[in-house]
Amino acid sequence: MNNNNFTWGVSSSAYQVEGGWDADGKGPSIWDNFSHVPGNIKNGDTGDVACDSYNKVEEDVYLLRALGVKNYRFSLSWSRIFPSGRNNSINSHGIDYYNRLIDGLVANNITPIVTLYHWDLPQALQDIGGWESSALIDLFDSFADFCFQTFGDRVKFWITFNEPQVIAWAGYGAGTLPPNVNDPGSAPYRVAHILLKAHARVYHTYDDKYRASQGGVIALCPNIDWVEPKTPSDPRDIEAADRYLQFLVGWFTHPIFKNGDYPEVMKWKVGNRSELQNLPSSRLPVFTAEERDYIRGTADVFCFNSYTSKIVTHSTTRLRPFSYEYDQEVSTKVDSSWPSSAITGHRAVAWGLRRLLNWIKEEYGNPPIYIIENGVGIKTKSDVDDNTRILYYKTYIDEALKAYKLDGVNLRGYNAWSFMDSFEWLNGYDPRFGLHQVDFDNPNRPRTPKRSAVYYAEIIRNNGIPLAHLCVSISALLRTEIVFHCVLQGNMFFA
Ligand code: BGC
Repeated sequence: MNNNNFTWGVSSSAYQVEGGWDADGKGPSIWDNFSHVPGNIKNGDTGDVACDSYNKVEEDVYLLRALGVKNYRFSLSWSRIFPSGRNNSINSHGIDYYNRLIDGLVANNITPIVTLYHWDLPQALQDIGGWESSALIDLFDSFADFCFQTFGDRVKFWITFNEPQVIAWAGYGAGTLPPNVNDPGSAPYRVAHILLKAHARVYHTYDDKYRASQGGVIALCPNIDWVEPKTPSDPRDIEAADRYLQFLVGWFTHPIFKNGDYPEVMKWKVGNRSELQNLPSSRLPVFTAEERDYIRGTADVFCFNSYTSKIVTHSTTRLRPFSYEYDQEVSTKVDSSWPSSAITGHRAVAWGLRRLLNWIKEEYGNPPIYIIENGVGIKTKSDVDDNTRILYYKTYIDEALKAYKLDGVNLRGYNAWSFMDSFEWLNGYDPRFGLHQVDFDNPNRPRTPKRSAVYYAEIIRNNGIPLAHLCVSISALLRTEIVFHCVLQGNMFFA
């Protein structure tokens, strides 16, 4: 197996690290406005300064080089480039910032993986309805077109949407994240419909205008939790687990990687329940044949983020209020023996990642796969001695490499979330995900590599888990002799 091209990296996103929220002509995003309302974010935190990455290109590139990563995944702030969201307002300072970052990466042989949309919609576009408005398809396309034209000579890996299910459900269904639309029964489906069309549109723009000269790849990046049926011998629980995955990820990847259309089980469940709810038509919109053709095949690789696993069982859910959640007819729980973390619902279940990778392989015909985010949040101000995080990465990476080496999963890369401690959305700066600690009390936002950064750098250097080092460090960690255990487990590294 040729594995020299396996790409190790770290990930971040614009709003979580950049700061400079109104610097040099940047327009406001929905996250700027949301975080400015007292009470919305834990401890009154905002992303106004964050890690100040907007002013720290050199520092950030230096740290990435020290880690030895092959790629860095970050996102572009749309309103830093187009303050009003439209291409009639172009902010050259924003473009300069991304040019400096991209140039710095390329000069150090670090491949940029660039997300076009990681949740921070320009407020001006929310004012016309956000992702509920089909006008956003054209507007997103024109933003993407500009980015391909401006950065595509150096950027060869693009991601359209980070976690489209979170955008649709948390943003427009549960309403927990901006724009806080609380319409669980229908808005998420309408929004997802628009996101899929916008994604396909951008893919075709790349294909038609840039691929020949720039030669990159483009995909979207769903969030996926592995789910295990509660009773594996009960076909109803097995179906429930599959249904959970279809509603979570198949919602986007079935149209793109399969037939241009939603998963059958979604069409059936939402259609059937809509009928029982006396609605004139299904709450799940329908694609025309032309749209299905247009959407099918619009990803060159399969990217995803994953943090945890759940246990799923079949459940008979209420018909009202109408809800994407009830439509799934499942209930989920976690195993209380799984180690918890700072994020509710994020438990460390490393073996789930191997199963998930195998599911993707089987479901979508073994496409090239990139794990774009994986990591653990720990609630502490100073966790430079972050042995828990080392254990998380060790076990998760080990399972990912088992999927690759033993199961034949076409895994091409692994990215840790995250490069450094950053603004963790509703939780502010409380949970820390970083390989680098950031001191948010210091105006200079100094970064300090944690132990996990040193460990991850070693994984990268070894192109896999360094066996000898692993046994020593883990046995030191557990203060027990587990060398034999390590050997028997067969930890994975590339020969
Ligand atoms: C998001 C990140 C976030 C991470 C940890 C993912 O859902 O893409 O932005 O920081 O989870 O909560």
